[in-house]
Amino acid sequence: MRLIIMNDADKVSEWAAKYIVKRIKDFNPGPDRYFVLGLPTGGTPLGMYKYLKNYYTSGQVSFKYVKTFNMDEYVGIPRDHVESYHYYMLTNFFTHVDINPRNTHILDGNAADLQAECLRYEQQIKEAGGVHLFVGGIGPDGHIAFNEPGSSLASRTRVKTLASETLEANARFFDNDVNKVPKQALTVGVGTIMDAETVMILTTGSHKAFALHKAIEEGVNHMWTVSAFQQHPKTIIVCDEDATMELK
Ligand code: F6R
Repeated sequence: MRLIIMNDADKVSEWAAKYIVKRIKDFNPGPDRYFVLGLPTGGTPLGMYKYLKNYYTSGQVSFKYVKTFNMDEYVGIPRDHVESYHYYMLTNFFTHVDINPRNTHILDGNAADLQAECLRYEQQIKEAGGVHLFVGGIGPDGHIAFNEPGSSLASRTRVKTLASETLEANARFFDNDVNKVPKQALTVGVGTIMDAETVMILTTGSHKAFALHKAIEEGVNHMWTVSAFQQHPKTIIVCDEDATMELK
């Protein structure tokens, strides 16, 4: 595992965006060879998406031959709801770069059959040839995607009921009213992310410091699902100094 410590959140965003650009370029994608990128939402990666937009605008990278798979989506909120992850990805990234919308994939939290939607998603990832680089963020309780404490470390894409900590953490996006946060989400599993060739986890801020300690300094534990990536052959954690405050 690589642990990259940057001075602040902006430097974390820049490092992560540069790494993505490098991986896409090194892969040399083309019409018969797409680079497959897993993506998160949330506050942490906003800066990374800004850097990626700038690198695209200045001609340093193209997303024409990139396919994306997002980690998760809430159940039961319309796609055009400002807090849906569909809306987030469109407004913060997809509409600013040359990615073909057909190559972007986000779980459908309004599917009539949610289980079938999760199976379909796993199948789509498989058909794309697997994920080359999965970028993720973690919650203060150590969740990655919506794999809440106690999730199986072998889990696949599925419907998940959100932990109260996650509802509270996400209430800031729903008028600070925890009752407005959707109670369920569709999420890739820990096992789904583990299948990626490289996993890059971004974490910033002192409120994530204990989770980072649990993630890397203690044993693999399904109560801190991000700790599973200790066993991934190619995990990169990019964090700021504030997030290292609980490291020994
Ligand atoms: C996002 C996701 C989550 C977030 C995590 C941290 O798609 O699956 O794991 O990365 O909740 O969120 P922020 O960055 O808002 O602190």
